[in-house]
Order: sequence, then structure tokens, then C-alpha cells
Amino acid sequence: MSNLVIVGTQWGDEGKGKIVDLLAEYSDLVVRFQGGNNAGHTMVVDGEQFISHLIPSGILQKKQCIIGNGMVVDPGVLIEEIDYLIGKGIQIDPDMLLISQKAHVIMPYHKAIDAAREGCGKSRKIGTTGRGIGPCYEDKAARRGIRFIDLLDEDFEKNVRGVAEEKNFYLTSFHGLDPIDVDQLLRDYEGYRKRLAPYVSDISVLIDKAVRKGNRILFEGAQGTHLDIDHGTYPYVTSSSTISGNACCGSGIGPKRMDSIIGIVKAYTTRVGEGPFPTELFDATGDFLQQKGAEFGATTGRKRRCGWIDMVMIRNAVMLNSLTGLALTKLDVLGGVEEINICTSYMYRNQRIDHFPVSLKVLGECEPVFETVPGWKEDISSVRSADDLPENTRNYLQRIQELSETPIDLISVGPGRNETIILNHPFK
Ligand code: IMP
Repeated sequence: MSNLVIVGTQWGDEGKGKIVDLLAEYSDLVVRFQGGNNAGHTMVVDGEQFISHLIPSGILQKKQCIIGNGMVVDPGVLIEEIDYLIGKGIQIDPDMLLISQKAHVIMPYHKAIDAAREGCGKSRKIGTTGRGIGPCYEDKAARRGIRFIDLLDEDFEKNVRGVAEEKNFYLTSFHGLDPIDVDQLLRDYEGYRKRLAPYVSDISVLIDKAVRKGNRILFEGAQGTHLDIDHGTYPYVTSSSTISGNACCGSGIGPKRMDSIIGIVKAYTTRVGEGPFPTELFDATGDFLQQKGAEFGATTGRKRRCGWIDMVMIRNAVMLNSLTGLALTKLDVLGGVEEINICTSYMYRNQRIDHFPVSLKVLGECEPVFETVPGWKEDISSVRSADDLPENTRNYLQRIQELSETPIDLISVGPGRNETIILNHPFK
């Protein structure tokens, strides 16, 4: 197997960063294909914690990393991240990190509009990360976005002044806010341009060459399937396509090139921001998972809402992504929970439903149907073979495989690279 896509199956924060970091060791190239610094990957290597928002997690394995055309990038944040990683002794030369010429640039007016909409009470509050992600993707679709190729172009100032005029009208007239200082913006972005220019290139050509050479490529998704702009819990979603199909569009490669697709499943469910969540827990078990799992957003620090695993969602993710395998993360966090609930279907007005509903009104009224299985007390974080897991843990894994009709390839029992049980190596 040479080309592998990794996506989240729930509402993000499934622990993709750790799995990408782990599998990057066996790949030649890591490509991130969507999202921006709304994502936050936490990785622990030799006891040291690293957080990245934009740079693919593969950088810690010293692999060539690509910021794909499907991403939206805040250049100031990217430079901070480069400096942060360099400060930690990680080499980030322009041949290690490449930015697609077609990736879109987040501008100050995107962030101002994101914050204004979330705070004004006039629009529906989505609970965004406030990083300007949605407004930047809006401009991309409206064909007035600024791409990295445009940031480097001599017409940059003219283009920005044209767009900024309209944005400032909206910010001042509709929201009653101060306008963006365009001269300051241009000075800041001139600095970003100089610093980032060496990293910008036509990545589709590079990826194509790598494919032809038979290199192994890992395509890294951000957020999760149910935050997908088309297939997620719209409108409480992010503004990009988070599913495996977008690994192609967001990097410039055709679907025939993909070999396997792994969906990351947290052993329970979490969500940040607004929107329905059928298996959400409002009791001591929810607090236990939140605290033991350190369920705080890596980007905004917000407390994550916690609940039981929802196999209706996971089956939906298997379908939407054509998952060939699952990676189950944070299994150790469930240790100490006496009885574990697995949501197998929903009840909606006395009717059982097995599929994930499109209507949020329906989803909001769905009651989870649970199958209760016994938990385990043991600390499993030092277990390295599935056979050494407690019987109840193995039974839990078995039910997840049966209900999803998908094999579990990897199990994560702690944040460290080595705290992993590999059942079926996707690159071997
Ligand atoms: P945005 O992506 O900042 O526009 O936020 C839209 C929704 O997606 C909000 O509910 C966010 O909390 C959620 N979201 C965005 N990125 C992530 C992520 O990386 N993990 C979990 N939730 C996210």
C-alpha cells in the first residue's frame, strides 16, 4: 500500500495528529488537504508535547510536508508555527515544507468578519474557532480570494485594495465596527510574502512525481466527517470538505491513486461548538471523560462536550469515506468506567432509525438506543499487544468492529508514539 488517507469520523479532535505522526515514519510525503488553523494537533514525542495547527504532523518525523491547495492559511500563524518548531530543534527548510500556490490566504478581514458574525447576535452562532476560516472559504467560492500565488504577484496590492473596500463597507455599515487598516495590512503581508515565498510551489507536480516514483504518501485530513460542509451537521460544520474524497481535490491528485483510507475513531465522542449531539452526557461520567481525556480544544482551549460512542455516526463515516480500516484512539480514557454504552441506533418519535439523519431537527430529537457492555478497571496504557488487553476491552473493540463492519487497524492507549497497538499496519 503506498497512498493512505487519514480522516476523522466524528466531530474532530479524534487524535488524528498522533496517528499521522506515527505513520509518517513509514511515508515519504505528508500532505494536508483542507482546513486551516481551526485544527490543532497535539503530539507527544519522548514525553515532550508539540502542538501544530497548520504544518502537517509528519514534520516531527522529518518528512517532507505539504500544505495542500485545499487549505486556508493564516500566514502570520504559519510563520509563528515555523519559528516555534525551529525553536524546538525541528528543521523546516523550504524543501521540508511546501505551500501550494493555490492554497488560500486568510486576511485580517476574514478574522474580523468571523468574530463579528459570531458575536453580533444577528446571525446564527456556529461556535466557530474565530480564525477566519469560513469567510476565507467564502471568498474562494466567490472567486475573490487571495491565493499564495497572488500574494507573490505584483498586483497583490491592487487586488487586496479592491476586496478590502467591500469588506470594510460590510464591517462598518452592517456591523458598526472599525474598518481594517489596509495600509497596515499591506505592510504586514509584505513581510509575510518575503518570509514565505521560498516555501511556495506547484505541489500537484511534486505529488505526481512522488506517485510515479512509487513513494508512499500520507494524506492528512483535519476536523471530522460530521463537520464536513456537505455531509456534516450543517450549518454547525466547518467550511471545507473533511472527507476522504477531498484528499484528491485538496491536493491535486486523482481518486485512482488512493489505496487505503483510515478513519480515526475516539473511543467515546466529543464535540466543540454548537449543534446536536445525541449521545452527549450531562452527568458525572461526562465530567470524568472530559477530565481524564483532557478534553479541551487545542486551538481555542474550549471545554469539549463529551458522550458515548455513536455507531450510527461511525457507520455514516465508513460509508462517506469508504473506510478500509479504523484507528481507535483514547481507549485508555475509558478505563475505570463501570459500564460503557454503545449507541447502536436512534429512536425518533417511536421509530427506530439506523442511519444518520440529514435534518438537524430530526437529529436533535433522536434518542440514542444503547447496548450496555461491562467496562474495565485496569490501566491499559502500557499494553502493547491486543491479546494482553482485558477481556472486556477486547469485547468492546469486537463490538465496534461488528457494528461498523470495518476492521480496527490501530489502537491508541496513550498520547505517546509508542502507546499504540498495531493490528494491521496500513503501510506494510
Ligand atoms: P470553523 O471551522 O472555525 O469555522 O468552526 C466551525 C465549527 O467547526 C465549530 O463548531 C468549531 O468548533 C468546529 N471545528 C473547527 N475545527 C475544529 C477542529 O479541529 N476540531 C473540532 N472542532 C472543530
